[in-house]
Amino acid sequence: MRTQELKEEIARLKAEKKAVILAHNYQLPLVQDVADFLGDSLELAKRVRKLRDRKIIVFCGVYFMAETARIINPDKKVIIPDREAGCALAEGLRPEELVRLKQQHPEAKVVCYVNSSAEIKALSDYCCTSANAVEVVEGLRGEEIIFVPDINLGRFVAWRLKRKIVLPASNCYVHHRFLLRDVQKARRLYPRAKIVVHPESPLEVIEASDYALSTSGMLKLAAESSEGEFVIGTEISMLYRLRKEFPRKKFYALKPGAICEGMKKITLAKLYEALTLLKEEVRLKPVLIERARRPLERMLES
Ligand code: 13P
Ligand code: SF4
Repeated sequence: MRTQELKEEIARLKAEKKAVILAHNYQLPLVQDVADFLGDSLELAKRVRKLRDRKIIVFCGVYFMAETARIINPDKKVIIPDREAGCALAEGLRPEELVRLKQQHPEAKVVCYVNSSAEIKALSDYCCTSANAVEVVEGLRGEEIIFVPDINLGRFVAWRLKRKIVLPASNCYVHHRFLLRDVQKARRLYPRAKIVVHPESPLEVIEASDYALSTSGMLKLAAESSEGEFVIGTEISMLYRLRKEFPRKKFYALKPGAICEGMKKITLAKLYEALTLLKEEVRLKPVLIERARRPLERMLES
């Protein structure tokens, strides 16, 4: 099927099956174009909670995001177009490792980044996204904190709040590859541009940049800032959305090749197939949904 035909079929099936398409900002441009809602992890989680009239959520993102949608709104059928669309960071920490950390720090509160499995969420006290990690930890004054699974986001939070935090050694390979010299090179190449990186980047990269923001934070900055040029240090498809929404501004990639393989597994053809067959459905044990929902609800209410 040609692209235009696929788009028309997706629109037809979506209406017929009362489905809604949610997509993360790192999705391929063609997938972004057919989504009903685009957003960062926090925006999409909030959107899921509000969905009333649609029975089916087709989640174009990595698996933990679809899983999160299922946990937040267990009455809906949640479909992911490719079950193999994984997040290396979320898969990088096994529940046994967190159990061990909790045994070593029995008084600590566990804050998990939403980029984690349902099992990790079920073992955590609070959940956060990159958009509210600092605020969530700041709210836990006087507590010892274990922050999982991203060491870079955890270091960023510790740096911003000047606090000691217990961290595991997991990271996101897309952002962990950004180097201080990439920022220095970007300063030379684009002297007028503001440098904006995602807080999953190494701390020395964050410190050398102008802003460390979630993907929604980057969009907000582009909308509100009087600046006209930005170097963007995050997954490559973010530039598609920024350029589309702010055609008068200039956006450059901090480094070529910042591609999330998991996000790129979702294609228009797989989305069409998912809507046709209503597969792959995200299924979780009710007890896991119950346990993992508690830290997520706390995050959405904060
Ligand atoms: P955001 O919540 O900022 O969109 O980030 C999600 C993510 O996976 C970053 O790698
Ligand atoms: Fe996970 Fe990194 Fe991909 Fe984000 S960019 S979904 S953290 S692997």
